[in-house]
Amino acid sequence: MKSVRDFQKNKQTGEPISMITAYDAPAAHLAEASGLDAILVGDSLGMVVLGYNSTLPVTMDDMVLHTKAVRRGAPNTFVVADLPHLSYHGSLDETLTNVRRLVQEAGADAIKLEGGASVIHQVKALTEAGVPVMGHLGLTPQSVAVMGGYRVQGKDLEGARKLIEDAKALEKAGAFSVVLECVPAELAQRIAEELSIAVIGIGAGAHTDGQVLVYHDVIGYGDVHVPKFVKTYTEAGQQIKSALEMFHQEVKSRQFPGPEHSFTMDEEVLVGLYG
Ligand code: KIV
Ligand code: NA
Repeated sequence: MKSVRDFQKNKQTGEPISMITAYDAPAAHLAEASGLDAILVGDSLGMVVLGYNSTLPVTMDDMVLHTKAVRRGAPNTFVVADLPHLSYHGSLDETLTNVRRLVQEAGADAIKLEGGASVIHQVKALTEAGVPVMGHLGLTPQSVAVMGGYRVQGKDLEGARKLIEDAKALEKAGAFSVVLECVPAELAQRIAEELSIAVIGIGAGAHTDGQVLVYHDVIGYGDVHVPKFVKTYTEAGQQIKSALEMFHQEVKSRQFPGPEHSFTMDEEVLVGLYG
């Protein structure tokens, strides 16, 4: 995918959009080589890479550094970068300064922010300024302290209605796409049907316009809790661990390095050295 028009195109043709997170150049490179439609530099960075137990401590500097690395690794893929916690709730000037860093400095094609009615003003302003905005509704990890934990959203009538309203408001404000996280499949389907922009689901069932998952969850790498909605396709962590154990053992037993990993000197230089 090259632009927001491709999201629109897929919405219309019904071909699901595949999206994965990435936080560094090699992961981004593999995502691009695998043909994935889009990459999200998520602030899940804080949990899966930086070792925090929530996304709240992630800073603008963190997001800029990792977005730059992803952009270098995947120069030809549509890259969305998350605005981190509290980076878009101050003045519009402050928000624009932060967005400028992700787009101009780091090379993101679009930004993502969490929330519905409360961020409509920002979505409108950014879209008018020419920055494509992806919304994020349902389970919004930056509000974990307010929500009181990570759980399925929109299960009751009031919550479901609020989510539908928020999604419509984001579309109206100019968002080109919305992520729906951890909501009942029936509700996600309804929202995808009601919106004319692409709805990308994570833990939102099979009837959205696309799916996004966290890189480390997909490849089975890391010690963070993996939610029910994730499918893990390989056990990269196990493979890495056994490689590290072999290296460790071969160093201890002097099996590594072998002659094929070593450099040698010319005979006459050697004789000269020993006199
Ligand atoms: O930060 C992230 O990885 C995300 C996705 C889970 C949508 O926001
Ligand atoms: Na995120």
